[in-house]
Amino acid sequence: MSGAVDPGRRRVLTGLAVATAFSILSPFARSAGVDYPFTLGVASGDPLPDGFVIWTRLAPVFNAVDGRGGLSRAVPVRWRVASDAAMTRIVKQGEVMATARFAHAVHVEVAGLEAGRPYWYQFEGLGAQSPVGQSRTTPQVHALASARLGFVSCSHWERGYFSAYRHLAAEQPDLVFFLGDYIYDSSYAADSGKVFRSHGSGNAVSLSDYRNRYALYKTDPDLQALHAAAPSVATWDDHEVQNDYANRWSQDPKIAVAQFLKQRAAAYQAYYEHMPLRASSVPKGPDMRLYRRLDYGRLARFHVLDGRQYRSEQPCIPANGSHQGHVAANTCSDLRAPGRTMLGWQQEAWLDQGFAQSKAQWNVIAQDLLVAPLTQRDLTSHKVGRWTDGWDGYMANRSRMLASIERHRLSNPVFWGGDIHSFWTTDLHADANNPDSPIVATEFVGSSVTSDGPPYDAFMQIMPLNPHVKFFDSRQRGYVSVELEASKMLTNFRVITDPRDPAATVSTLKSFVVEPGRAGAIAL
Ligand SMILES: [Fe+2]
Repeated sequence: MSGAVDPGRRRVLTGLAVATAFSILSPFARSAGVDYPFTLGVASGDPLPDGFVIWTRLAPVFNAVDGRGGLSRAVPVRWRVASDAAMTRIVKQGEVMATARFAHAVHVEVAGLEAGRPYWYQFEGLGAQSPVGQSRTTPQVHALASARLGFVSCSHWERGYFSAYRHLAAEQPDLVFFLGDYIYDSSYAADSGKVFRSHGSGNAVSLSDYRNRYALYKTDPDLQALHAAAPSVATWDDHEVQNDYANRWSQDPKIAVAQFLKQRAAAYQAYYEHMPLRASSVPKGPDMRLYRRLDYGRLARFHVLDGRQYRSEQPCIPANGSHQGHVAANTCSDLRAPGRTMLGWQQEAWLDQGFAQSKAQWNVIAQDLLVAPLTQRDLTSHKVGRWTDGWDGYMANRSRMLASIERHRLSNPVFWGGDIHSFWTTDLHADANNPDSPIVATEFVGSSVTSDGPPYDAFMQIMPLNPHVKFFDSRQRGYVSVELEASKMLTNFRVITDPRDPAATVSTLKSFVVEPGRAGAIAL
């Protein structure tokens, strides 16, 4: 049924209003009887100095049971890029076919544009016009112009509204980073008391499940507003596939590798279909290249990592065989085993090379997880241990990465992450377990958009064991906005009043400055 979910209907109506306004000027008449196809909005991403990807997916019935969005035949889609918001000065245009192979998603790699300026774009298909999106090319290669950036993670539909996205959009960022858990594969039980707005379906497993999960999230007006406001760069965490999965291993040991790889292939395909990614990320079966670099003039190089696809199996697997993350005893030798990798050997080598060749003033490593070590206490046994699903389960890889930063004297390295549903500012030391060793890099982790944070009081109790943690707060949802200049990085932890309030307001929880040549954040 079309628009069976209220937020979807709200967006359909908004889209229709936009389409009607534009059809006055358009030679493309709306054909009667076809539902509005641009129910999922528009997006742009992966900008270069001369272009970016523009994205949409035609889905007149966004929640069609077969995951095809209410379409079957190929549909021609016109696209236009303009140098003005009113779309009167068209600088590029063309036509592509939206096909069932990619669920009628459209990815156009626009090139030949001017560096460091905004552009606007729009699609037409099935006699209708999409909303207009704003994008932006990156500055010329030698430019040191400042940038307004944002990063977000962990938006569980069932836990509330995406007000964090709306407020980040209002800051008019130049570029937004999605650091994982953009969707959640899993649904809460109806009687769990956790379902504020329902997914309307259970855990995603098949391609149609994942397609419809993305489609549902994409109907959210705040999510659409953020994508329409700025280009984005996306990487994933676990919930784009399954909680705590590692490479080809499901968290559930009863699911065989071959079966799980089929699920991963479906999940990766749906991820590609719904994100503004280049053709270099088109999945091949269960494999998809997502790690990549992005240069923002000479101001910053973004090293965008994939922390899930290539990692070694979860360490210290308990006797029951569960591959789910857990707090393992600090003495478990798997945690430190040098033959284990988080990024995979190829990505490790690629990252080392990216560090070696970087000429940027700032080097931002945009990835899914908390990088800093975290000595924890098991909540029941009170034994000291490490969380196996994060970087603490892959300590040797973390040491190699930080050693690479030191070896190449990388200019101003800053890690960004998500996954842990809380704000963190940490110092990353050369020897992660020795707080007296030099600080090599600065780390900021953003809270979730809606997902529940870890217990604040329990985490505050372990902070004395972790003196390299400069700030922690898990009590509020939000996002991170960053004002980046050659001479300063200003990081703002923004919090919303309540994820259950669609009109939630925003405030600043805490701000930090990082100065060039001096790793470690300064609290304001
Ligand atoms: Fe999450």
